[in-house]
Amino acid sequence: MKRLIPIMILCNFLLIKHSGLAQIPKSPDVNGKEWHDTQGNFINAHGAGILHHNDTYYLFGEIKKGNTWLVAGQSWEDYRVPAGGVSCYSSKDLKTWKYEGVALSPVKGDTTNDLDTGRVIERPKVIYNRATKKFVMWMHVDKNDYSYSRAGVAVSDNPAGPYRYIRSVQPNGQMSRDMTLFQDDDGKAYLIYSSEQNNTMQVCLLNDDYLSPTKIFSRILVDRRREAPALFKSEGKYYLITSSCTGWSPNAATYAVANQVLGPWKEYENPCKGAGADTTFGSQSTYVLPINGKTKTFLFMADTWNKTDLKQSGYLWLSLKINNGKVEIKKFVY
Ligand code: GAL
Repeated sequence: MKRLIPIMILCNFLLIKHSGLAQIPKSPDVNGKEWHDTQGNFINAHGAGILHHNDTYYLFGEIKKGNTWLVAGQSWEDYRVPAGGVSCYSSKDLKTWKYEGVALSPVKGDTTNDLDTGRVIERPKVIYNRATKKFVMWMHVDKNDYSYSRAGVAVSDNPAGPYRYIRSVQPNGQMSRDMTLFQDDDGKAYLIYSSEQNNTMQVCLLNDDYLSPTKIFSRILVDRRREAPALFKSEGKYYLITSSCTGWSPNAATYAVANQVLGPWKEYENPCKGAGADTTFGSQSTYVLPINGKTKTFLFMADTWNKTDLKQSGYLWLSLKINNGKVEIKKFVY
């Protein structure tokens, strides 16, 4: 490990130097170790997303604490930890993070409630609705066997919350598991989710208040079995990073490109390059953040899951570049 530290520092230095971006922080946790807030506490925000509002970044993520257990009777490694609700951290520079508290609280002892600690609350994402002046959070809510497959929505007057849970839905009667939100420049917002038993993704336009799905939706990456969507826009084109479906174990990412959010989408190869690319460097995508003033460089955010002790899961943040229309994510930039 001692020998690794100078390499990590050098790589992070090169990452910043070569991208010319003071704003791209060094990866908070390239090796699955702890990452701390301004009070020195472990940052607990998994499957995270970022809202950039009034010059402040708000990081939202799954709170994972308590013991991990394996759900019996499943054909796959269904490791679970209590659903701890959604945390919020704020930052001006993406490097120093202040804990803002629990943005969405879980519910204890009510197994019928979507937010019960015995259920699943994953991949929260927040966008701001300029018309209603509300902050809107969507998330994946589920039962331990992932049969419930719904998208939950919550709302707040303040970016950091507290958020008031409204309800969960299956958009147009469709299953919704791993998901993300995308807000376009015209103010329209979309829910992107793994559907149809994870076989096919869907994109659904939200209503103007962002609180419910419209009837307008499309099926994308049909029969490709993709999840962990992270959608972003660069110079008029839409890009979607996804993972394959191997539970908490990492696998190779792909990216897709479209001229419209609803598609059609064309899938391309693994955007990750270099050693470790076949497992997304041991991680799974969760969000891609635009960086102020940059059109071709983004921040790729991913989780390094520790499946047998989920609260110990780490984070991997890397620079993502669009190079001649191709997406490239490298762990080490030389
Ligand atoms: C992953 C998914 C995670 C979580 C996990 C459960 O594939 O991306 O968000 O749902 O499965 O095993």
